Amino acid sequence: GTAAFVANRVRSQTDVTNCEATKKGNFKVCVCGGSGGIGQPLSLLMAMDPNVGELSVYDLTIAMVPPGGVAADLGHLETKVKVKGYAKSLDEKAIDVLGDCLKDCNLVLVPAGMPRKPGQTRDDLFKINAGIFNGIAKEVVEACAKYCPNAVVALVVNPVNSVVPAMAELYKKKGLNPKNIVGVTTLDCVRANKFVAEITGADPDDVEIPVIGGHAGVTIMPVFSQDKHGSKIPAKDIPALDKHVQDAGTDVVNAKNGKGSATLSMAFAGARLGKAVLAGLNGTPTTECAYVLSDVMPGLPYFTSKVTFGKNGVETVHPIGKLNQYEKERLEEAKAALKNEIQSGLDYAASNS
Ligand code: NAD
Ligand code: LMR
Repeated sequence: GTAAFVANRVRSQTDVTNCEATKKGNFKVCVCGGSGGIGQPLSLLMAMDPNVGELSVYDLTIAMVPPGGVAADLGHLETKVKVKGYAKSLDEKAIDVLGDCLKDCNLVLVPAGMPRKPGQTRDDLFKINAGIFNGIAKEVVEACAKYCPNAVVALVVNPVNSVVPAMAELYKKKGLNPKNIVGVTTLDCVRANKFVAEITGADPDDVEIPVIGGHAGVTIMPVFSQDKHGSKIPAKDIPALDKHVQDAGTDVVNAKNGKGSATLSMAFAGARLGKAVLAGLNGTPTTECAYVLSDVMPGLPYFTSKVTFGKNGVETVHPIGKLNQYEKERLEEAKAALKNEIQSGLDYAASNS
């Protein structure tokens, strides 16, 4: 009922009204990279969503924990979910397990891939994570195209700004819906909400800062003026707060000192996005910011803005709304950087069809 929705913090302001009437779903979800730093807690949080009937945990045989082990562990939760692990061997002759793993999936969450080390940019990860040989994103997205072409494929793997255009173009070429490829930027909203709540003393549940643009450096653009608490912050404090949100990922990378990037907060954020998608598929349209194929920003075919998820996945990509003068200037800076990062993704797609 409503209480469970609030507890799970599916943050749609306007859309949860009919959830009381909606029967829980029985969806199949896959977490690719499910044994990883994000993958394990994300698998846990998704296994706890009452809309999930089956969970596939997919990772490499050489992962830190075998995916079968993560699945055996999660299989003891006293919920309805059935959890299965699928291990991919890097041996060329090994059987492809992705068919069973992805068959009939409704949602595929992809936190597979290398995280950043101190001093690296997210862009430095592009060749590794989208690369030609054993490209994690490409391999998984191609398998989704084959085994679950209608699933929402939520890409956490960095750099989101370039990987999403590259993979959505791949879907276009296959005649599939490129809007099924969704870049996960929820963590930027989670951070902006948290920081605003800390400054203003508001209840974090009552703060809803849209973060538009993309997911790296200056492309991360919190729109403080559109929230009732954010809009009360003095103008002189906004540039530093804006920078704090932009740098939050790097702050975690530095604090982890070479041992990875945000995992737990990312799992929290990824699960929120995942639950929003499933709520939508189950008949309760739900809105979150996400980075998708978009026509809200002329010249930028991919952009983060509020997106409503419905019965068919991405239903509405919303315009960015009103900005104040500071935000209008910031938007220009975000657009210039994002343009280049989108182009890297499109170039990749053009040379890797
Ligand atoms: P991790 O190294 O802890 O886990 C990654 C997992 O992916 C590992 O278990 C690994 O075995 C698995 N993997 C690698 N190649 C694979 C393949 N071909 N098939 C299946 N599984 C494969 O890393 P992490 O900290 O969980 O981060 C994962 C990714 O998420 C990184 O690219 C990171 O930059 C990104 N990230 C994005 C956001 C965001 O806001 N979008 C936030 C945090 C991290
Ligand atoms: C984040 O924002 O925490 C992620 O994109 C990971 C990173 O590299 O900063």
